[in-house]
Order: sequence, then C-alpha cells, then structure tokens
Amino acid sequence: MDHRPARSALYIPGSKERALEKARGLPVDIILFDLEDAVAPDAKVDARRTLAAALTEDYGPRQKIVRINGLDTIWGADDATAVAAMDCDAVLLPKVDSPKDVDALADLIPDQPIWAMMETPQGILNAAAIAAHPRIAGFVMGTNDLAKDLNARGRAAMITSLQHCLLAARAYGIVALDGVFNAFKDDDGLKVECDAGRDMGFDGKTLIHPAQVAICNAAFGPTADEIALAELQIAAFEAAEAAGQGVAVVDGKIVENLHVVTAKATLAKAVAIATLETS
Ligand code: COA
Ligand code: MG
Repeated sequence: MDHRPARSALYIPGSKERALEKARGLPVDIILFDLEDAVAPDAKVDARRTLAAALTEDYGPRQKIVRINGLDTIWGADDATAVAAMDCDAVLLPKVDSPKDVDALADLIPDQPIWAMMETPQGILNAAAIAAHPRIAGFVMGTNDLAKDLNARGRAAMITSLQHCLLAARAYGIVALDGVFNAFKDDDGLKVECDAGRDMGFDGKTLIHPAQVAICNAAFGPTADEIALAELQIAAFEAAEAAGQGVAVVDGKIVENLHVVTAKATLAKAVAIATLETS
C-alpha cells in the first residue's frame, strides 16, 4: 500500500497550458494530467506534446499521473508510447474492463505503475481481478461514465459499484479514489459527497476545479479531534498494557489493539500530510 497522501486528485486537461502552469502552485496531492475526455479529438495530438513539455517542469511533491486514451482508440497506443518516456508517477487507463486491458498497456509501458479507471459495468464486475493485477497500483472511480452505462441517476444508485471497487482495492492493498463532483460551484454539496466517500473508506476524491481542493483535503485528512483521540487511545492502551490488561477505555468506549493500529495509522497520515505541506 502506498502511504503517500492521496486526498485530492485534480484533473487538468493536457491541452490547457494555463491550467498546467497553475497546478504547480495548488495544494493538491495528485495531478491527473488528462489526454482523454477533457481534450477534444482535434487537440489530442498537440496535447500530448504540450503535456510532455509541462512534465519537464517541477511539480514539487505532487504525484503526477497521466490519463491516456483507451487502447481501442486511434490515440491510445501513441499516448502510451509517449507517456512511457515522460517523467510521471503512474499511467491511468480509462474504461478498464478486465485484466487483459491492463496486460495490453503493460506491454507498452515497462516501468510505471498503472492505475485503472473503474467506470464500466464489466470493469466493476471484474474489480477484484483487476486490483489483483501485479502492475495495478490504484483505482479511480469514473462515476460519470458509470452512471451513463448503468442508466442510473444520482450517487445512491452507484453505491454498490463504489463499495465493490473499494472492497477489491482494500483486498489487494491499492489506492482508491472516489469520482468527481460535477457542480464545481456547489461547496456544500461537495463537502457532503467528500464526507460520504471518506466514510466509505476512499483515500481521496477526484476533482475538476481548483476551488474544490481545500474542501476535499479537509474531508480526507484526519481532523484535529481525530488526531487528539488517536493520541489518547494510544496512551490509554499503553497504560492498560503496562497494568497487565489487554483493553482500555477512552470516552466510555473500548480500545483494543485493533483501535491502536487505526490510531497509529491516523497519526502517520497526519505526519505525512504535514511533511507534504511543508515541502
Ligand atoms: N486545473 C488547473 N487549473 C484550473 C482547472 C483545473 N482543472 N480548472 C480551472 N483552472 C484554472 C483556470 O485556468 C483559471 O485560472 P486563471 O484564473 O489563473 O486563468 C482558474 O482556475 C479559474 O477557472 P474558472 O474560470 O473558474 O473555470 P473555467 O470556467 O475556465 O473552467 C472547467 C471550468 C470545468 C471547464 C475547468 O475547470 C476544467 O476544464 N476542469 C477539468 C475538466 C476535466 O479535466 N474533465 C475530465 C475529468 S472529469
Ligand atoms: Mg470516463
């Protein structure tokens, strides 16, 4: 499991030089440089070149992930070959239906980890086999495409798919990012959806606009209350152990070793975020 913070992952159209430049100063954990749906067909080839040039610039501690076009499109194979030579942390493959799609990309990309867009009914049904693929390091939920293919309306209709992918990601120790919230001026709606994704277990959420970053980072990072509680739980459990007991009580709630494991993970995440934000 990758322990780098992955609270916020902002899509940036690979064709938009202004946005590519702006992203270098945004407090996002991951940048998803897009060559797929955010780029119009007649701009695809230029976008590949624009992106290659942008990736020679310094993006600081932000993870750089490039989303290519599917290998069943006229751009996919050339994107893959180009990205194999780019300085990025991973390659994101859209509309992954099965591990065979990952095999096909792996043949073109020898080194970088591969992330999968989970956004087709076939892909969701095959989530466990895709997560188990040795080259796969992360899942990104593609809720817009999924809603379209399911003929579904609203997030409630996609909960089974989201949970199924989260389950597969956790079973194989990979990162899992929630889908985008389209109404990028609706901060209250965004917060509700970020909290729902965090409660479900997602590591972070994908975003479309810089104005969404702060709300998302806050929702997926540990709160001050969670950090304080984690410290109390660890101290109480250590005191109980020293007294020969296997269980402690904090705030009227039982604290066992498994809670201490979660508490330590919370503190480690807080440290990783603080390190990232000061680097
Ligand atoms: N990444 C980085 N910067 C972005 C950005 C993004 N995704 N979206 C907007 N910005 C920048 C703009 O360049 C602008 O910068 P400036 O003021 O310094 O010139 C600033 O943020 C404000 O942009 P705004 O005018 O509010 O947005 P817009 O109307 O230009 O664009 C969208 C709105 C939705 C079209 C745009 O945010 C976008 O293209 N998002 C990404 C879409 C995408 O990648 N979709 C694929 C996955 S779902
Ligand atoms: Mg999609």
